[in-house]
Amino acid sequence: MKISVIGLGYLGSTHAVAMAQLGHNVIGIDPDDSRVQALAAGTLPFFEPGLEDALRQAISSGNLSFQTDHDDLSAVSDIHFICVGTPQISGQQSADTSYVFAAASQLAAVLRPSSLVVGKSTVPVGTARNLITNMRKATGFTPKLCWNPEFLREGTALADSMSPDRIVIGSDDLEYNQALKSCYQKMIDQGIPVLELDLETTELVKVSANAFLATKISFINAMAEIAEASGADAVRLAEAIGLDNRIGKSFLRTGIGFGGGCLPKDIRGFIARADELGVGESLAFLKEVDQINLRRRQRIVSLATEELGQVSNKKITMLGISFKPDSDDLRDSPALEIALRLQALGGIVTVHDPVSLEALEKKSSGLISESDLLAALKDADLVILGTEWADYKKLDPEAVSSLPRVKTIIDGRNVLSVEAWQKAGWRIIAPGRNIVND
Ligand code: UGA
Repeated sequence: MKISVIGLGYLGSTHAVAMAQLGHNVIGIDPDDSRVQALAAGTLPFFEPGLEDALRQAISSGNLSFQTDHDDLSAVSDIHFICVGTPQISGQQSADTSYVFAAASQLAAVLRPSSLVVGKSTVPVGTARNLITNMRKATGFTPKLCWNPEFLREGTALADSMSPDRIVIGSDDLEYNQALKSCYQKMIDQGIPVLELDLETTELVKVSANAFLATKISFINAMAEIAEASGADAVRLAEAIGLDNRIGKSFLRTGIGFGGGCLPKDIRGFIARADELGVGESLAFLKEVDQINLRRRQRIVSLATEELGQVSNKKITMLGISFKPDSDDLRDSPALEIALRLQALGGIVTVHDPVSLEALEKKSSGLISESDLLAALKDADLVILGTEWADYKKLDPEAVSSLPRVKTIIDGRNVLSVEAWQKAGWRIIAPGRNIVND
């Protein structure tokens, strides 16, 4: 099939590669010329394991090309996927849908009645219907439009795109869905379930799934607060309740909380949309989910302050700065926020991260970047594990024990072996646990 993918951020780049892998003829479109040139040369604008190789293969197979605007070739696409971002509006809770409306209006100028428009961006409920109205005004016909949310996670983006748990399609007419189902036929043949719903339910599926995941994480982090106050251990608690199949162990990892470009802004946008709909009370609990999450960051700052006595002029080493491992995404990263708060308290914060230091440099944060892990640990008064990269999980505490000035580590992600680190002479502190160090 002939496909255009509009918006080449995380979602769009991954989707364009995935569609090319399915054998379609894909044109990626983004107004950012430098991004388009980089992608056309086989370079991703972000780090994502395996995606750059797949991008290069797709380009050399002739299935994937990039351009900055629609042209006669892209206009005849069977399907146009809208994959632009919907960031949180600065100073507000709501999602900024202006990129979605701008992409739709540019598309409307070239859209043919036979082509299908598929929205994949995460949008507030009601957006798709407004888009149809706008596009109808611009084109003079009712566009065929489906909504088809994406559930990929950074770090496993391509695998999630190619093998999602489900394909959800929303539209006003089941006929519209046919072209999209043909596009995904190879995936459907693998047995991936397809749910065909109305537009509003489909929009809600995406934001409510993210709200549920965020709630699960904040639930266990609330238990961590109780555990800290009562002498219990939230990691063992999560293990015990997670074994109940009705609860499940995924997204029950306690630590410094969730971040990234999706969960935080999606719960806030959802709260704002519920307010607009006059049912703000229904999502009042999500405000608490957000607050519990943000408190975890301050908790680490407090633990660090308790350990150091005073933070000023102390050398603090932050291991990992991205919001999660296998990603260089610093958006709303808990580790980054903790590092900046400790720096604001006068700490000399050195950051190590296997891939995100380049992204950190662009922020001019004043944090000290150190690409050599051993050099980062040298002379530290305190080490904090902020992102659970594999490199840190397999660190030998014995081998690095002579490096810091003070052998204390805060395991912000609860991934280190307390026994092994203590045996090597370290004090180990972890949120939600009451670890006794001699
Ligand atoms: C999330 C969803 O998981 C995807 O399904 C969704 O498609 C995506 O948002 C999106 O809306 O685009 P992502 O933000 O890439 O994906 O990452 P997650 O794996 O969900 O992790 C989010 C945050 O939660 C990370 O900071 C992670 O460290 C944290 N987390 C995750 C925990 O603190 N505890 C857990 O048990 C799991």
